Amino acid sequence: MSKKTFGVLALILLLAIGLVGLPALAAEPIKIGTVLPTTGPIATFGQSTLNGIKMAIEEINAAGGVLGRRIELVNEDTKSDATETRNAVAKLINRDNVLAIIGEVASTNTLAGAPVAQSQGVPMVTPGSTNEKVTEVGDYIFRTCFVDPYQGKIVASYAARSMKAKRAALLTALSSDYSVGLANVFKAEFTRLGGKIVSEQSYSEGDQDFSAQLTKLRSIKPDVLYIPGYYTEIALIARQARQLGVKIQILGSEGTESPKLFELGGDAVEGILFSTHYSAEVKNPIAQRFLKNFKEKYGQDPEALSALGYDAALVVADAVKRAGKVDRKALRDALAKTRNVKVVTGVITLDARRNPIKSVVILRVEKGQKYKLVEQINP
Ligand code: PHE
Repeated sequence: MSKKTFGVLALILLLAIGLVGLPALAAEPIKIGTVLPTTGPIATFGQSTLNGIKMAIEEINAAGGVLGRRIELVNEDTKSDATETRNAVAKLINRDNVLAIIGEVASTNTLAGAPVAQSQGVPMVTPGSTNEKVTEVGDYIFRTCFVDPYQGKIVASYAARSMKAKRAALLTALSSDYSVGLANVFKAEFTRLGGKIVSEQSYSEGDQDFSAQLTKLRSIKPDVLYIPGYYTEIALIARQARQLGVKIQILGSEGTESPKLFELGGDAVEGILFSTHYSAEVKNPIAQRFLKNFKEKYGQDPEALSALGYDAALVVADAVKRAGKVDRKALRDALAKTRNVKVVTGVITLDARRNPIKSVVILRVEKGQKYKLVEQINP
């Protein structure tokens, strides 16, 4: 071949490499596992979270991936169950050899899976598990959401100060670490602020009939009823309260949010107030871009868990970049040094206990399957 032809071919080759990126062509993808409840009683939590994570990873890959490599997600369904979560974590480590795991979201499930990740030295980042004990499992366990001792205090103070509630009742799911943890914090803070807890009752996840608890509440007449829990039960409680003529302001937590809330509860759920991590009405540039792209991609508004999933993926990708190599220990160390990462739900700096401090929003459930921003409380 002539010198000239060779020159032209070499130029074309160089251009092609420049366009596609040689490392992206050559290297294997980086595998990140997700453990999420995409089926079972809290299936909308898993689906919402996975939608957010997928969107983030697609954007990252479209921009060239990390360390010149694509990220590949491997999802394991936890079926909303703690034992399944433990097995799913083990599978992702042993079968897929993942670099890190994102998940679970329900605290009880993350608490079951985290010891496996910790013992095998695999970084695990939960987008949504707020119970304090989760990151105490060990130095490989991180979260990108606020913790319940913080969330519960804000809600108790909202009830006592903004709603001027004096008498509160609690309805706690004893099978849920999340529910029990939040109820305890609420009780301590509400009492500290001069309020009185006038009734403490419980239920089990999966219960269908709440008439015994509601009948008691009808005669006790508290100002607010705090139900830290998940949508399935909250929807049924609201519906049965209406049927029994129990008119009490319900105060919930982030587990209230789900399309199923409206399906199961009908218009009885309107007016419920709850604390959570994200509102479509929050206006920072990253959140606005996320909202627009999410709506385009999925044809619906994102829930808190979609935003949290998206954010957790950004935090992991940021740490892989800073680690500079695909190595679990290096990734753990980089995650521990996460500082000022701007995400949809705020700015993430992890403290020595691998938790961030972030804003809490209070939303009101409205007609037409909507949530209205009532207040944003910044740290
Ligand atoms: N914080 C909940 C838990 O720890 C999970 C959750 C997060 C649910 C966000 C809904 C929205 O169990």
